[in-house]
Amino acid sequence: GFLIGSSVAGGGHHEAEPYPDPFTEDRAYTALLGQEFGSLTPENRMKWSDLRPSEDTYDFSDADRIVDFAERNGQEVRGHTLLWHDQNPDWLEEGDHSEHELREILREHVTAVVGRYEGRIHQWDVANEVIDDEGRLRTEDNFWLRELGPDVLVDTFRWAHEADPEAELFLNDYSIEGINDKSDAYLELVGQMLDADVPVHGLAVQTHLSTDAGFPESMEENLDRFGDLGLRTALTEVDVRVEMPRNGSAPTDGQLAEQADFYSRALEACLNAESCTSFTMWSFTDRYSWVPVTFPGTGAATVMDDGFTRKPAYGALEDTL
Ligand code: XIL
Repeated sequence: GFLIGSSVAGGGHHEAEPYPDPFTEDRAYTALLGQEFGSLTPENRMKWSDLRPSEDTYDFSDADRIVDFAERNGQEVRGHTLLWHDQNPDWLEEGDHSEHELREILREHVTAVVGRYEGRIHQWDVANEVIDDEGRLRTEDNFWLRELGPDVLVDTFRWAHEADPEAELFLNDYSIEGINDKSDAYLELVGQMLDADVPVHGLAVQTHLSTDAGFPESMEENLDRFGDLGLRTALTEVDVRVEMPRNGSAPTDGQLAEQADFYSRALEACLNAESCTSFTMWSFTDRYSWVPVTFPGTGAATVMDDGFTRKPAYGALEDTL
């Protein structure tokens, strides 16, 4: 029952991600996606930016292709994401809707998107990154929380639950691998939500790690404290970036060994924590990875290089399973 997953590349909003859609254009990539993984997450194709070209239209074509593909390959799908401060269309964030209209736009979107894939998406990252690094709810930089007030968070979970009562609904965020102020804040938030009978079922831990930052030692303990609340947990966007050698060459063997160690320790923490039932990587190949674009000077964060050669991290995961 334990799932190893990958994101499905395509549709990034950075100009430095200009590659043609790998999912439709790179057959070797798509073949590996179909063979190697038990679960897929669209990296961008279910975000507002991709689903909602305008207020009156939905474009489900890319998202549908991914869900159909997963089904043909007997794979699960994680949906990502419904309420976020990033990758929202301009017509939304720069429009002049009233509060009432915005609420309707959100409710309708959640109902339409979750409802469309009812029974086909087993877990949804309903809310993404709603707490900042200081452990505070993003009431200023999250468009929805700012315009509609913090209560819209629980409304969104309720709407999603109505649209697909079987889907497991998650809060998803970064820098909450170990026990720290931010994961403490999540423990409090999710505790309040459970007390109020909000249909929240899991905490999703992105797990964007860097060998320079050290491994989050308290990971298993952290997953367990959410498990103790009766929640499921998941590692949803695992990658481990390394500092790239300045001369443009590939990472050293030492770096790759350290990276492999981080991968296997993250997997081990998840395997050991009873609540944690999936390990999803944010791309499996350096050919398509958000890392060098977002964290300049770093890269090579995935388990296969850009020619799909398996790195030590790939073997380390196999050994850990
Ligand atoms: C990233 C994608 O990988 C990029 O292609 C896109 O340009 C920006 O978003 N946390 C998340 C993901 O929850 O949605 C982000 O994905 C990476 C950080």
